[in-house]
Amino acid sequence: MANTILVGAQWGDEGKGKIIDVLTEQADVVVRYAGGNNAGHTVIVKGKKTVLHLIPSGILRPHTLCVIGNGVVLDPIGLVQEMEGLKKNGIKVTPKNFVLSETAHVVFPYHRELDGAREVLKGKNKIGTTKRGIGPAYGDKAARVGLRVSDLVDPAKLEPKLSARMRENNLLLRSHGVKPLSFKRVFADYSKAGRYLKPFVQNTVVLLHDRIRQGADMLFEGAQGTFLDIDHGTYPFVTSSNTTAGGACTGSGVAPTRMDRVVGVMKAYTTRVGEGPLPTENQEISDLLHGMGREFGATTGRARRCGWFDSVATRHATMVNGIDDLAITNLDGLDTVETIKVCVAYRQGGRQYDYMPNDAEILAQCVPVYVEFEGWCTPTDKCKTFRELPAKARAYAKAIAELTNARLFIASVGPGRDQTIFV
Ligand code: GDP
Ligand code: IMO
Ligand code: MG
Repeated sequence: MANTILVGAQWGDEGKGKIIDVLTEQADVVVRYAGGNNAGHTVIVKGKKTVLHLIPSGILRPHTLCVIGNGVVLDPIGLVQEMEGLKKNGIKVTPKNFVLSETAHVVFPYHRELDGAREVLKGKNKIGTTKRGIGPAYGDKAARVGLRVSDLVDPAKLEPKLSARMRENNLLLRSHGVKPLSFKRVFADYSKAGRYLKPFVQNTVVLLHDRIRQGADMLFEGAQGTFLDIDHGTYPFVTSSNTTAGGACTGSGVAPTRMDRVVGVMKAYTTRVGEGPLPTENQEISDLLHGMGREFGATTGRARRCGWFDSVATRHATMVNGIDDLAITNLDGLDTVETIKVCVAYRQGGRQYDYMPNDAEILAQCVPVYVEFEGWCTPTDKCKTFRELPAKARAYAKAIAELTNARLFIASVGPGRDQTIFV
């Protein structure tokens, strides 16, 4: 399989976790390179659901080495809970199959508090963040005042650094009308988590390159999606990291010349959770999917906003990520739709766009230009091969792949491993 970067080609929640789990059968190493526990990646194996927030979705395969790279911001309390949760369910999580970068940045409680307070201050212009402290943690990293995992696991370093950061952050919290946090409490909780995590901490750049020299096949697990990227997304309604393919290199220390392929994951329709423009948003399809109990956020439980497939967006995603192969998920979500719309261009202010305008205000005013497809109106969730799919479903999948400018590689017709069709 060589070294593959897997990214979300839309606004997150495309089904990356499921596809990573399927592809991990052929991978030796899975690396998370960006984001934090704002992510929620669902993997269903033999009917049992696991939602992963920080730990790579390769963890369900015992032979796989899972790595949290330097580009991730890591909430150690959340991570310890996630590791304990997996162990309770009989999943192996040891320093032999799970490793953390010593240079990943740490999310502290003041980051979470500030995340929430800034959203309140923004009022109706809020981003709709997951309130996991992601923006403030990446902010500290960029401002060069963040603490890294190497600080977390060394109490002699943690104490003075945390104490200095808490003095400033408690002032900030007070200015937002939020109660200051107790240093004693945070230090106690974080040094405890640091002790727990210490055996898992390594120089992951050296480790990954050792594995590359040994011929390992690696999968780089993207979090969030292309239009949540801090540079290429619908700024400011984005997350705070580079979620696109380039982030896999900076967030892991594996160079672009060592990467072989980019897989883009996209739903057969569009969803977004949180605020910001979504040109193809549609109430009917939202009601349909929510009525089936689908499209509720894996991290916050919020109802996802839903709409028709937007090929202007996914074509743009192919461009900025260099997507070679596509995995189309949730094809079965359209099984009952009689006429399916696909956005092929936007109109705004007398202008037609065949790419995503950068200005979120302009994007919010864009009116989609649709083409229509006849629905197949047949269940697809039991189909095992591409030929078994109804002809109209095949035509739809091929058409949206073509519009996206990449090869159709996987069509997914259900959340389970066995509901995956290799094309
Ligand atoms: P991720 O963040 O990209 O990993 O995606 P999430 O796990 O947040 O959301 C995707 C949802 O779709 C999860 O509930 C998956 O179990 C589910 N899913 C993935 N692929 C399919 C599919 O082909 N069909 C159906 N019905 N569900 C799917
Ligand atoms: P996965 O990896 C969907 C969204 C939030 C909000 C914006 C900023 O499961 O696809 P943040 O907490 O990151 O500051 O929030 O980004 N968001 C996601 N939406 N899937 C995700 O991850 C997301 N991670 C963040 O809803 O709009
Ligand atoms: Mg998700």
